Amino acid sequence: MENKHLIELVDVCKDYNGDVALDHVNLYINDGEFLTLLGPSGCGKTTLLRCIAGFITPSSGMIKMNGEDIAKVPPHKRAINTVFQKYALFPHLNVHDNIAFGLKIKKTPKPVIEEKVEKMLKLVNLEGYGKRWIDQLSGGQQQRVAIARALVN
Ligand SMILES: Nc1ncnc2c1ncn2[C@@H]1O[C@H](COP(=O)(O)OP(=O)(O)OP(=O)(O)O)[C@@H](O)[C@H]1O
Ligand SMILES: [Mg+2]
Repeated sequence: MENKHLIELVDVCKDYNGDVALDHVNLYINDGEFLTLLGPSGCGKTTLLRCIAGFITPSSGMIKMNGEDIAKVPPHKRAINTVFQKYALFPHLNVHDNIAFGLKIKKTPKPVIEEKVEKMLKLVNLEGYGKRWIDQLSGGQQQRVAIARALVN
């Protein structure tokens, strides 16, 4: 039986106008695995994550999920949630509404949204912070809101 990895990168290359950022990356990640990419600034870690999430397209090579090439799958249809260095939280929305944003877009019923947001706030240890504005939070608290917003979906 063929072993299907959760995510598999096959000879993935990416250059920015000729500057090589990813040079034939071969990597697989299995279900339940916790993986860290470690390397100096500018070595291509974020580029790799952006390729997996679908925000940028590799110059060559293939990315598979559960054995299927996902080149044609747009970012919002990939079962990938990414929390980036800049958390990109919405400054005009409070903590609750930041976490609820994706669910509202998907037209999730309001009681379900409330239940899920409450669960996420608990998970990231921010119970009672729902009404806070983003600029009233510490860096670590903002990061936890970003994690909650990614996980809730
Ligand atoms: N949009 C872009 N246009 C041109 N070059 C880029 C672009 N994005 C990244 N690069 C270059 O590609 C290389 C890899 O960048 P990347 O952001 O993947 O690095 P990183 O490993 O995440 O670094 P850091 O640890 O500093 O976050 C760097 O040399 C960077 O300057
Ligand atoms: Mg980076």
